[in-house]
Amino acid sequence: MDIKAVILAAGKGTRMKSVSTPKVLHEIMGKTLLGYVLDNVKNFVSEEFVIVGHHAQDVENFVKNNYDNAKTVLQSPQLGTGHAVSMVCPELENYDGLVLILCGDTPLVKEETLKEFVEFHKSQNSDLTVMSTIFEDPTNYGRIIRETDNSLKCIVEEKDATPEQKAVKEVNAGIYCLNWGKIKSAFGQLKSNNAQGEYYLTDIISWGKAQNLNVNAYILQNSDEIYGINSRLNLAQAAKMMNRRNLEHYMEDGVTIVDPDSTWISEDTQIGQDTIIYPATYIEGKNVIGKNCKIGPCAHLRGGVEVCDNVKVGNFVEVKKAKISSNTNVGHLSYIGDAELGEGVNIGAGTITANYNPLTKVKSKTVIGDNVKIGSNSVLVAPVAIDEGANVGAGGIITKNVPAWSLAITRSPLKVLENWVKKQLGK
Ligand code: UD1
Ligand code: CA
Repeated sequence: MDIKAVILAAGKGTRMKSVSTPKVLHEIMGKTLLGYVLDNVKNFVSEEFVIVGHHAQDVENFVKNNYDNAKTVLQSPQLGTGHAVSMVCPELENYDGLVLILCGDTPLVKEETLKEFVEFHKSQNSDLTVMSTIFEDPTNYGRIIRETDNSLKCIVEEKDATPEQKAVKEVNAGIYCLNWGKIKSAFGQLKSNNAQGEYYLTDIISWGKAQNLNVNAYILQNSDEIYGINSRLNLAQAAKMMNRRNLEHYMEDGVTIVDPDSTWISEDTQIGQDTIIYPATYIEGKNVIGKNCKIGPCAHLRGGVEVCDNVKVGNFVEVKKAKISSNTNVGHLSYIGDAELGEGVNIGAGTITANYNPLTKVKSKTVIGDNVKIGSNSVLVAPVAIDEGANVGAGGIITKNVPAWSLAITRSPLKVLENWVKKQLGK
């Protein structure tokens, strides 16, 4: 059965207190919250609809530039989560498959979980399934209210809940699976007579019950996955949870993480066995790191980085969009950006690939052949190529290509004025 996803991303995110960035474009380790949600569904749905509203243009640009299969649909004004979903009704008028609804502010949910959720929906012959979980502190989440026979009754938002309902610990994860053909008419019938004056998506549960449809809840065991981000505090907490999960996964796969408390590694990074990640290292975006590498302490990989086997990226080294081939060392205090480094290269301390021209705003590439040795404190002004086996003397400012096996040296000859100091002092 065809599955389409609807991702709610139009809300203002008032509690983030952000002037310039809509909530769903805030980032964790170099990836936006919305990016996490889209990545989690893109492999098993045929199309994604992202509902945009607040800062619509920014969210639209993000989606267009990064996700081919996703469409954006404008919700203006933003009258609630139910109103948001109703915006796709014209797009899905003749559609009769499944619709998976998610929120753009819930980045921790895993792809496997979503697939399992859809399978559960199918296996129950459900018309409408909502994901729930148990939170020790359910504050601010919608509460799942059940009948005495334990079947679903409705969802009540915190602001509409009685003290008795507030005590309920089963909460709405904000993820739903619907047989579109059967549920779509709900969206014309939602009411906004609640504490927030909004059209709540959560009301489709009681609507479905009133229509005698088969409405179910899927209770997620690992409640961490549906942690929603509403504030900066939540953002930091979610980042920590995600990072912990990533580090555990790397360690299980044979990577040494010397200090998990100070190390950050994005989920889109692959790391080979026996690589050691030293403390205070920050690895964001998409990267591939080979086997037997030593990364850090205090290294920063900013995405688009490919590090082959037996490579050292040492302390205070920043790497962005670069390939570092095997047996190469970038030991200390360097910036390697928009670069390709061959095998067996040694990059001296303090070497910079000057990749950016601030006047033209153009970024250019540095290409370094196998077995090249770059002396300490050199600046390689891109575009530039240093061919196989060449050496660059310490302090080199390299503005032209250096042919293979040659020495490039740009410093003026050393002068030693003997007894100069003594003369100055009149001795
Ligand atoms: C919502 C649920 C709540 C659930 C929680 C899970 C409702 C009414 N409440 O509450 O039961 O426990 O998520 O995290 O659905 N949005 C729009 N358009 C709007 C309003 C919101 O697109 O008009 C989007 C937001 O950008 C956000 C998502 O919908 O991505 C959820 O909205 P939010 O305001 O965060 O809802 P919660 O109060 O967290
Ligand atoms: Ca939320």
